[in-house]
Amino acid sequence: MRGPNPNEKYPIPGNTNLQFIKNTVTIPNIIAGDYSYYDALNGEAFEEQVLYHYEVLGTKLIIGKFCSIAPETRFMMDGGNHRMDGSTFPFNLFGNGWEEFTPTLEELPIKGDTIIGNDVWIGRRATIMPGVRIGDGAIVGAEAVVTKDVEPYTIVGGNPAKEIRKRFSPEVIQELLEIKWWDRDIELIQQNIGAIVSGNLNILREMKRG
Ligand SMILES: CC(C)(COP(=O)(O)OP(=O)(O)OC[C@H]1O[C@@H](n2cnc3c(N)ncnc32)[C@H](O)[C@@H]1OP(=O)(O)O)[C@@H](O)C(=O)NCCC(=O)NCCS
Repeated sequence: MRGPNPNEKYPIPGNTNLQFIKNTVTIPNIIAGDYSYYDALNGEAFEEQVLYHYEVLGTKLIIGKFCSIAPETRFMMDGGNHRMDGSTFPFNLFGNGWEEFTPTLEELPIKGDTIIGNDVWIGRRATIMPGVRIGDGAIVGAEAVVTKDVEPYTIVGGNPAKEIRKRFSPEVIQELLEIKWWDRDIELIQQNIGAIVSGNLNILREMKRG
């Protein structure tokens, strides 16, 4: 078994919608792990879905390995937030003397890095707000607006997104978080894809030892 080349932009020949994110990003403030993919609607690059993401603000979007990101998912980043301690009108943008009122970084409401774990599935048209952390194995339902951190192996949905349910018992979640199958060598992962997709803990435990 060879599997796809993780260094390809478009791992499925002839399909320029499905892209391995780490190979299509051109800006340093987005970091993605191997095999995490975005399924574009009309060939748009993943980074077009990352809004208001200005390098000068210093925050990053960090995505783990083996994440599935459905079409039209949007990541709202820190640069979209106006000052809120008085008027929200961005006078500085219009120049002609108003640039004198350009806010400092300290005056802007910066929430920090947005961090998506490993093996996360984000459903179609979800919006992830700035500074949110989504744990390993979590699922974000279609059309959700995620405003708060999501625990590992938790399904969330709605606006604002709320927990729908945990995917497994606390004990199983704990074990999966210790096994971290996504960090294993790709050869070992490939030998165990059946166990990974069926959550076969007996075999996954062996992977941890492997
Ligand atoms: C979130 C999701 C995975 C849940 O699947 P599920 O576990 O089978 O959920 P169910 O259909 O049994 O619904 C469970 C509850 O969650 C609610 N729910 C399901 N999907 C929801 C969503 N996207 N937003 C808000 N609530 C949702 C249901 O209304 C139900 O609520 P209730 O318990 O109050 O009755 C699924 O609904 C979803 O959104 N999948 C994403 C599909 C997608 O976007 N695919 C794109 C291609 S990758």
